[in-house]
Amino acid sequence: MLIQDILAAKRDGQALDEAAIRHFIQAVAENKAGDEQIGAFTMATAIHGMSLAETVALTSATRDSGRVMDYSALNLTGPVLDKHSTGGVGDPVSLILGPWLAACGAHVPMISGRGLGHTGGTLDKLESIPGYDVTPTQDTFARLVTSPGVAIVGQSADLAPADKRLYAVRDVTATVASLPLIVASILGKKLAENLDALVMDVKIGNGAFLSSDSETRKLASTIAQVATLSGTPTNAVLSDMNQTLATSAGNAVEVHECLAILKGERHTGRLLELTRYLAVEALLSGKLAQDREEAERRLDATLASGQVAERFAQMVAGLGGPTDLLERPSAYLASAPVIRDIYPADAGFVTAQDVKALGMLVVELGGGRRRAGDRIDHRVGLDHIAAIGSCVDAQTPLARLHAASKADADMLAERLRDAFHISAEKVDSPPLVHDVLT
Ligand code: URA
Repeated sequence: MLIQDILAAKRDGQALDEAAIRHFIQAVAENKAGDEQIGAFTMATAIHGMSLAETVALTSATRDSGRVMDYSALNLTGPVLDKHSTGGVGDPVSLILGPWLAACGAHVPMISGRGLGHTGGTLDKLESIPGYDVTPTQDTFARLVTSPGVAIVGQSADLAPADKRLYAVRDVTATVASLPLIVASILGKKLAENLDALVMDVKIGNGAFLSSDSETRKLASTIAQVATLSGTPTNAVLSDMNQTLATSAGNAVEVHECLAILKGERHTGRLLELTRYLAVEALLSGKLAQDREEAERRLDATLASGQVAERFAQMVAGLGGPTDLLERPSAYLASAPVIRDIYPADAGFVTAQDVKALGMLVVELGGGRRRAGDRIDHRVGLDHIAAIGSCVDAQTPLARLHAASKADADMLAERLRDAFHISAEKVDSPPLVHDVLT
């Protein structure tokens, strides 16, 4: 099969069969297809789109372009489950959800990513913890997935290698924004974890990856269908990103907030609520609970007993972090030299947050990357972020700014104020979960 024949068919708007797609993706993975051929493929796909069958074939071929995890040599006692998010601001769900599912009997081989654009990255957050190694050996990873049952690490080069080349070409050929390419890229990597079930957390709202709500809905339903047809039962939860999920956004600040939840010091809030919701979905998909009530009972019991905190602590220690992080977080998580409350110009109620602007503010503070390869300052970010519906005034700040210098805090204070809309009329918070698509 000639690559140019496959490209000609796609250029002319014909649907490709599975064999043609597999041939092309294998050629990409083996460096037998040139960047110009990848560019032609991604552009033709961006223009003509793909049928559901083509998207499933592209996703499965991307997954199979490298190593697919195999647990047969391990003594796993429960289902292999995971959650993946399309990325948000103040969204450290994975840090709590992974150990929570493990405490309920699942095994969670969570391959996570770094911050992208205005969104934060799980690996960047975990690297706030001194010694935490996001690239352990396969043996260490397998040992931790067996017990304590969770390992949150980075992607190794042998997982879905075709996606790495495709993404690099898409980035410079204006073909990132193509639904089938996005779906195959996200799922190709995730399904290489060889899961029994996956829960996708697709963010919707002004801080989401796609700015249009209707496109986001389409992304969620396509992801759920394609993953399930590729052999991994998947639900997509459309969760709200019209405000930060946590009350903090940054790296060390978000780890602090997660530790407070794990230790039972914080019992409420949207971060905990959404994590619990996603965990229920995962337990039901993994058949670790028969119904919602049983799942919730199990989740509440494991969190209250400290088992979730213990699994998290075991994972951190197993990946090279301190053994007493939960007892002495402030001894390990670096804090910024300048911490300043930012108050609104006028008192009132928060009616909206510009979440993208808040995410970019964290990047500007140094908590994210402007360019690939930039160093992250784990100390900086925001906390005490005022939620939609809350009252702010001269005593109650919009947020607390953690900055590397006074100059940064001075420069960004006004930008922070601009990211909040304040009104005399109180509004209700948007729903946390907009929909669940299967
Ligand atoms: N995240 C990915 O991994 N791939 C995409 O194409 C978009 C977001």
